[in-house]
Order: sequence, then C-alpha cells, then structure tokens
Amino acid sequence: MTRRELLRLLAAAGSAPLLAPWAHALAPADDWLAQFDAATPDWKAGFANLSGDLPPVRATVRGRFPDALSGTFFRTGPAGHELGGERYHHWFDGDGMTQRFAIDRGEVVHQGRFVATPKRVAEVRAGRRLTEAFGTVPRGSTPPDSPDSMNVANISVLPLGGELLALWEGGSATRLDPRTLETRGLKTWRPDLAGLPFSAHPKVDPDGTVWNFGVGSGKGLLVLWEVAPDGALRRADGVPVTDLSMVHDFAVTDRHLVFLMPPLIYDAERKKAGASFLDAHVWRPELGMRVLVIDKKDWSKRQTLALPAGFLFHLGNAWSEDTAGGTVIHLDYVRSADATSVFTSSREVMRGRRVRAPEPQLTVVTLNLGTGLATQNVLPLEAEFPRIDPRQVGLRHRHVLHATGVLDARPGFTAIARTDIDRGTSERFVYGPNAMVEEHVFVPDGLGAGWVLGTVLDLAQKKTVLSCFAADALGSGPVAQATLPYALPLGLHGVFVAA
Ligand SMILES: [Fe+2]
Repeated sequence: MTRRELLRLLAAAGSAPLLAPWAHALAPADDWLAQFDAATPDWKAGFANLSGDLPPVRATVRGRFPDALSGTFFRTGPAGHELGGERYHHWFDGDGMTQRFAIDRGEVVHQGRFVATPKRVAEVRAGRRLTEAFGTVPRGSTPPDSPDSMNVANISVLPLGGELLALWEGGSATRLDPRTLETRGLKTWRPDLAGLPFSAHPKVDPDGTVWNFGVGSGKGLLVLWEVAPDGALRRADGVPVTDLSMVHDFAVTDRHLVFLMPPLIYDAERKKAGASFLDAHVWRPELGMRVLVIDKKDWSKRQTLALPAGFLFHLGNAWSEDTAGGTVIHLDYVRSADATSVFTSSREVMRGRRVRAPEPQLTVVTLNLGTGLATQNVLPLEAEFPRIDPRQVGLRHRHVLHATGVLDARPGFTAIARTDIDRGTSERFVYGPNAMVEEHVFVPDGLGAGWVLGTVLDLAQKKTVLSCFAADALGSGPVAQATLPYALPLGLHGVFVAA
C-alpha cells in the first residue's frame, strides 16, 4: 500500500480503529459528580463545570496595559465537564470553551463561548453524553466512529487566514469567527484530507509558515502538515512509525521537525475491549524516548535517536547548528519520569482529589545528528506550559517562560518563571498559594524586552485574573491586571493577536 493510499484510508476511517457501534450500556452508574460536589478543597474551582456561554463583560483593570498589548488574548480549555447529571472522569475530556480577552485603551472585555463541535451540539440537544471522550467512557455512550466524533476542540487556538482555529489532539481543527467566537465548522484543508488529525501544537516559523502533525493512533501513521502564512495548504503526507506514541507537541528548527516520542503506546486490542482512548495506551519503558528528526524540506529524510524513557506533554523550542562533527540540534522540553499525571492526577482532580505524580522538570537536550547520540540534562526546576518569544521559533533562544512552584496540598502551579536555559537560572514572580497559575505567553514589543501575559485562577477572590509583566522584570510583579467578575475553570493554551 502506498503512503498516499494509507493517508486516504486514515482520512476515511479516522485515527481510531473501526469499532462495532455498541453502546456502553452495562457500565455501572458512577457518583463522580456527587464526590466532586462533596469535596471541600478550594482548588476544585479550577475543575468546575460551566453550563453555558459567557457574554462579553468588562473586567476591573488595575495599572495600565502597554500599547503593545492592544489586541486580543485568546485562550481555550475544557469547560463543559458535566452533562445530564454525570461528570467526566478526566480533566482533558470537557467540551472546549474559547476565552477572548480584548485589550483596548486601558479596558479589558472578556467573553467565553463553547465551541459548537458536532459532539457538543448533539449531546446538549440529547441532554446526555452520547460518545466516548479521551479518558471517560460514559454510561450509554457509543464508541467513536471517527476522531471528529470525539473532538471537543479544547486544547489550543491558532489564528490563521483571518480565522481562529480551535485545536484538539486527534481530529480536525474547528473554525471560529475571531470576533464573535461563533463556530463556523470543521476545517477541511483539502477534500481528500477531511478528518485527518491536525494536532494542537502547531509551530509557526518567524516567516509565518505553519508546521503541524497528527497522530493516527490505530494506523501507525504520523501525519505531517505544512501551511503557508496565508492559510493555504502546501503539503500534507503520512510517515509510518512503528509503535507510534501518544505525541502531544513537537518542535521545529530552521531545517527540522523534531518529535519526542514517549513510550506510551496505543494498543488497539485494549480499545476493542472497551477501554477509553487514554486507557488503550500502555506504558512501555523498554522503548525509551525515541527522538524522530525529519528534514523540513524532504520528509523522506528521517533519523531516529534515543533518550532514556520519560513522559512529556510540551517542548519549548529547538534550534540547529553546524559543527565539525555534523549538525547538532538543541532543544528543551518538560520531562516527567512517567505518565502518572495523565493517567491518575488529571483524573482524580475531577472528583476533587489530589494525587501527586512525578513533577515535570525543564530538560535540555542535545541531538548530535552526526554521531546519532542524544544527551539530556534534567534541570532541578518544576516547569509546565513552556513558551518562548515567537520570533525565535526554530532559532537560537535563551529564555523559556514557564509555570513553576508546586505545592503538596493542591494541583497546579503558584509562580511564573523566565529561565535562562544556558545558565539554568530563573527570574520569577510568585503569585502565592492562593493562585493557580495558567500558561503565560510572551508578547514582543519592537526592540524592547517585550511583555509577559497570562492568567491565574485566584482562589481567594474566586476570580480569574489576567496579568501583564515586563518580560525582563518578572520579579517586579505585574504592571497591569484585569480581574474578571467570575472564576473560569483552568484552561490550557493561548495566543495573543495584536490589533
Ligand atoms: Fe498542550
């Protein structure tokens, strides 16, 4: 079978294996909703359900947002955790809501709107869950007949071609109106590619070229995408990978696509036996962390290197240099010893329980393509949601912005840090034990140091707060803050779009 035929098969069947359309009718009723309602920790606000859209409302602003921040900060995350008296069992299951923070002449207006995915529309209409989710098999639900039947568009957003794309891991991008957040439908890049996975962590080169991938779990195929700055598809193809991992993010250099593949491997037999998509994955540390490097120009040129087994969601950045011994790629990622966080911690929060997992640590990697040797240095620094200056994607970078500061008592992070990965030193702002820190992004400002923009859930006020810092003076605290009149459940990723 040719690669093109494989790709067609994947587009037609989706990345999930074809399954008999039985319903999970025999699953026992569960009491997760009652357990969550009865739980007492204040942090459970981070995993609370939103039942409807949030119309535009003006935030209370303290300080002044710099002119460079005139524009819109979009974020997204799971927000529809409950329906029909049942609660999902995993943080990543919930229907995606897109948040829109419009910053204009000292005012900040917030709006939140659920992405009207086919799944959400059908389930809200029915008043109950109809289809499986990433980590939950709801009672009476049906296995997915395609990835998009599970797609909840709840991970990230990408502005492209005048639209905002709401992204999920295993299915199509969903097109939104960036002004109203109205859902326009699934993105089809080319008719024969409809339904192929377009993952949630595309990388945008400084020239605007968009690179992305998708994992066809049941077919052992890694789909690659190259999209022009205007949103026109340049290339899409599939690369066969044996024992394909759960891959959430990747990195690019000026010349390479780089995939870290943790040994969390999809097992179709488990899925057929009724496991959720997540639970169909098996931790196989004997495979190590495979590193797949693909030539950006010629996707048939590939090299695989090996790192010790470990788990990750996110990479910061990668860049390449030519040395006497050949090409060397430098990259950083946030490494956990294993996948406990996704299997256990991110589940138990949904019933108000805190279960600690090995914390992700900022890790610096060197890949020597000449010798085929990969080495890594795990920094003694808890980190998640790594972001860099968008002008440095694929190029030499020095600073990574990330959440940090873990507490025993509750999930999440308490501080934001800007770490110099050459020296291993950080400047940080500690929001404190009452804050659940979300992803912060870097916003360039001409030749200056730029700004840092991000949200926290303030558990003391029970409100979500948007903060802006000078990027080179994080420790001085926010220069401006906008407090919403309500708390949003914790989200995942965001992007700032200048006016
Ligand atoms: Fe992510």
